[in-house]
Amino acid sequence: MTPGKGSGRDTALSERPALDPPSWFTEQANVQDPSITERFEDDWPDCWAAAADLLEWDREYDAVFRGSEEPPFEWFPGGRLNASYNCLDRHLPERKNQLALIWEGHLGESRSYTYRELYREVNAFAAALRERGVTQDDVVTVYLPMVPELPVTMLACARLGVRHNVVFAGFSADALAERMERTGSEYLVTCDGYYRRGSAVAQKNKADNARIAVEQAVEVVVVDSLGLDVHLGEGYHDYDSLLERHRGTDVEPVPRAADDPLFRIYTSGTTGEPKAVDHTTGGYLAHVAWTSQSVLDIKPDDTYWCSADIGWITGHSYIVYGPLALGTTTVLYNGTPDHPEKDRLWELIDRYAVDVFYTAPTAIRAFMKWGEEYPAEHDLSSLRLLGTVGEPIDRRAWEWYREHIGGGECPVVDTWWQTETGAILVSTLPGVDEMKPGSAGKPLPGIETAVVDPAGQAVEQGTAGELVVTRPWPGMPKSLLAGERWGEAATRGDEWRYYPEDGVVEDDDGYLTFLGRVDDAINVAGRRFSTMELESTVAGVPGVAEAAVVGADHPTTGTAIYAYVSPERGRSEEHLREEIEAAVADAIGEMATPREIVFTPDLPKTRSGKVMRRLLTAVANDEELGDISALRNPAILGELRTTTSNR
Ligand code: WT7
Repeated sequence: MTPGKGSGRDTALSERPALDPPSWFTEQANVQDPSITERFEDDWPDCWAAAADLLEWDREYDAVFRGSEEPPFEWFPGGRLNASYNCLDRHLPERKNQLALIWEGHLGESRSYTYRELYREVNAFAAALRERGVTQDDVVTVYLPMVPELPVTMLACARLGVRHNVVFAGFSADALAERMERTGSEYLVTCDGYYRRGSAVAQKNKADNARIAVEQAVEVVVVDSLGLDVHLGEGYHDYDSLLERHRGTDVEPVPRAADDPLFRIYTSGTTGEPKAVDHTTGGYLAHVAWTSQSVLDIKPDDTYWCSADIGWITGHSYIVYGPLALGTTTVLYNGTPDHPEKDRLWELIDRYAVDVFYTAPTAIRAFMKWGEEYPAEHDLSSLRLLGTVGEPIDRRAWEWYREHIGGGECPVVDTWWQTETGAILVSTLPGVDEMKPGSAGKPLPGIETAVVDPAGQAVEQGTAGELVVTRPWPGMPKSLLAGERWGEAATRGDEWRYYPEDGVVEDDDGYLTFLGRVDDAINVAGRRFSTMELESTVAGVPGVAEAAVVGADHPTTGTAIYAYVSPERGRSEEHLREEIEAAVADAIGEMATPREIVFTPDLPKTRSGKVMRRLLTAVANDEELGDISALRNPAILGELRTTTSNR
């Protein structure tokens, strides 16, 4: 990413048309008072009591925050609480018969749990884990697809005060083994298998291989998801039989200190080694509950759906812990958006009358590609608010989302955060802030950030730079609380700051437009162009559904810009090519015009939906691809190689 120079223009990203939140939304919003930002600012850090007070504490905290300019930091010291109690027990008096969980399987099978039913299942499984000898020093690894037993296991662990470590179900046996070994985990909860795009995945085989590969002895609990007749040898237990034995048992929730770990999760590792992140019981839960309420505007009576996978932090924070802490109904979908048909998600929103929907830009770009007729077939009028997370959303995708999913009326929140931050740090507050399509918004009340150059000096407003978080936040993980420095931060001076390693530009209103990871820049003949700026320009051309831009070797210019473009259906490639060249020349400059524009039906993506630019670079350079285990759609690579080299 290019701080400042190079792009030749600074304005286009900061000039965004602003949209006011509709009054019908504001009138019912959880946060309606615009003075919230000022009040939080005047009252920092005590303002964060507003988040902690959404929870029930076994022991009240002595202070909201303890610490000076430097770590160690403590959030809610002295406080004790149990996360499972906060997500289940305390809702029973008022909403025991309300649905906590609606689960929808890959081909229309569904199951739902009231708060009371979920409470019972969690208690029975917690009793089973306790009987198997699981104690507070253990970590229970969970290797399950999107089935109800996944949140049940997480909450059962939380009930016992034991950390869970959820590993994305689509990961390989090796990836599972590596995480289990690094964590020293001696318990694994998995299943026989599951369906992915209509074909069965033998999950237990992968789990067996991981179990053999790790040094420690591992006890395994197997959920019967598919009815496969799997063999359960020594050290294996059947989930249903365990549950049957303990049905009706109540397990006393174990109170934990606010900064005791609730769970471990590994970062996705798109840049560098996956790192272990331990989120806390009090600060994390307070932060996710507060953002679920203020940003996602969740009410207990809502049906809320986040289409992420629980295997990622998004699912931990905004499918399980945040929504359940607020006592709402959360939807769990085990399937893909285009199976059996490309209207699958809209059919579900219609059927369950979903109020709030939260998804990722990569999914929205796919919906655009498929066409607006799919959402148009369904009644989506139950929707009140839309959210996105995971990567920058360009203006056209934002507008398409609001128009075709939100009926032109729903506010859209573009929420910026990371596995490391635990919860949302940057977004608009949908009831009070104006929206600027393509720009995420301001740091939330109580969050302070700055935009700096590589030397750590603040840049001028309107100039691209790198985001830093300049104050602690409640959802920060254990190692940051303790003062450990991550990545680049290790080499950047003494002052405490957190470096998310994202490029950003701030406009006159303090709105932040994200530009991608800081290492994503393309250097052409000595001028650096931001990958994100290029991509959002290309993706902004009508007819382009999705675009990725990389730099690759070229005999004359050194590095040249290659644009990989996935067009909407029925568009002329020649016409698009001209439009793209003109748009880039116009917005960024002649020098940034792509040397090659390669049309492709799809881009190579990780299982979490992030474009793997590394592979596009390798294709453009005609190099070895390296490790492609994270790739969701390997077939596209052969096709790309042919089209790239035929040009
Ligand atoms: C990286 C974190 C947080 C859950 C999903 C991803 C990018 C995330 C946005 C957004 C622009 C975004 C950043 C960040 N990112 N949300 N709204 N606008 N970029 O979690 O795998 O830890 O990835 O995703 O680059 O650093 P993650």
